[in-house]
Amino acid sequence: MPPLSRDSADQLLARLPVELRAALACAARLAAVRAGRLWLVGGMVRDVLCGMPPGRDVDLAVEGDAPALARAFAAATGGRLIATHAAFGTATVELALSAGPALLIDFAGSRVERYSQPAALPEVQPAPIEDDLLRRDFSVSAMAIELRAEGDQLRAGRMLDPFGGRADLATSRLRLLHATSLRDDPTRLLRGLRLAARLDLQPDPATEAQIQEALAAGYLGLLSAERVLAELCLCLEEPRPDAVLRLADAWGVTPQVLPGLSWNEALAARSTRLATAPDDGPRGGPLVWAGLLLYELDEAQCAAIAARYPLPAEASELLRHLPALRALAPRLDGTLANSTVDRLLRPFSVAAITVLHYAEPAAAAVTAHYLRAVRPARALLDGNDLQRLGLAPGPALGRMLEALRAATLDGDVSSREQAEAWVRQRLATPG
Ligand code: CTP
Repeated sequence: MPPLSRDSADQLLARLPVELRAALACAARLAAVRAGRLWLVGGMVRDVLCGMPPGRDVDLAVEGDAPALARAFAAATGGRLIATHAAFGTATVELALSAGPALLIDFAGSRVERYSQPAALPEVQPAPIEDDLLRRDFSVSAMAIELRAEGDQLRAGRMLDPFGGRADLATSRLRLLHATSLRDDPTRLLRGLRLAARLDLQPDPATEAQIQEALAAGYLGLLSAERVLAELCLCLEEPRPDAVLRLADAWGVTPQVLPGLSWNEALAARSTRLATAPDDGPRGGPLVWAGLLLYELDEAQCAAIAARYPLPAEASELLRHLPALRALAPRLDGTLANSTVDRLLRPFSVAAITVLHYAEPAAAAVTAHYLRAVRPARALLDGNDLQRLGLAPGPALGRMLEALRAATLDGDVSSREQAEAWVRQRLATPG
């Protein structure tokens, strides 16, 4: 494939949203004065070449002092410097946009990395961009576009594509750059999986062989549970985490990271229900995806995952609750009173009930109604109100609040006045 001309690179940059272009032009202007050449690198170059909408993460490589450039950029744009690692020559600026999530702009001094042993963190040394690209993982992620500014306008300089990433994108090929790429950093196996699932790429024979070699050698086992978990969480942020799982099974990765889990037709069906949910349906997200993928695992398998990974509290809770949720599903039919549905579902998180919603179509009407109308229902009276009406603090007051909530949900009581009358009557007729 012929190299991309400057005009074509300009056209690529022209596809970026206006505010992002303005931010990049500002960074380029500052770099010209204070640092050296500035490059857009990594995922955003790849995405813009594929015609995909750019995400919120922007990777910039600077030939010069990246933290200083990040500081100047934050000051010029009103962005917030959220992290600086002087030792690695990196800094991140968060820049709010007029709509949507803020940009996260990573400034990194271009560098080379040396891995002293498999899966160790690398030693870093400044280097020109051409060398920086050499250290990267896949050809499609090792491209760079030089950023320049003409007045307020963003302009492209050279485009670097030393490993034929553009040609690989055009032929749907996933290609590792070095024979030791996965040994150096086994997280790349999981990164490759995500990329391949997202962009529908097939590993070329050498990459395929390296993947199988890395799996046979157990390199993933050298990573800390935290690093594997971080990659698994990124998989859950993909548009179709079920597609990542399907590919992970095909590559033979799943048994090494999530033993007991495998892609199947039922999993695909519930994933599709979530992925194609109408806008007013219960909302998904990484945690809901995790629950949907793990939905069929038994108690011991869920406990093994929770013991292996340092999960956030809400994820451990969801895993603990999955078997009970599954057992509950057959009881959720449309004839139940609101108060009964509330009693059954209240112990579970909104994420868990959303999982149930997409996993169990027969219970979907009940779970949707519960999430929309029952769960958010506000109490008509609180504990102070009940004390004012004569109840002493203690378990009896708690039971009265529960009973009042049930009466409200079932439509027996619908105003504060009615609620007070209802309580007075219960107090007057004990038992
Ligand atoms: N990289 C690498 N090895 C890693 C992590 C990152 O070589 N273990 C390189 C890749 O070339 C990647 C770049 O560093 O493109 C930036 O990393 P990151 O922002 O994590 O990845 P993106 O490619 O931007 O991927 P995504 O779209 O998934 O964010």
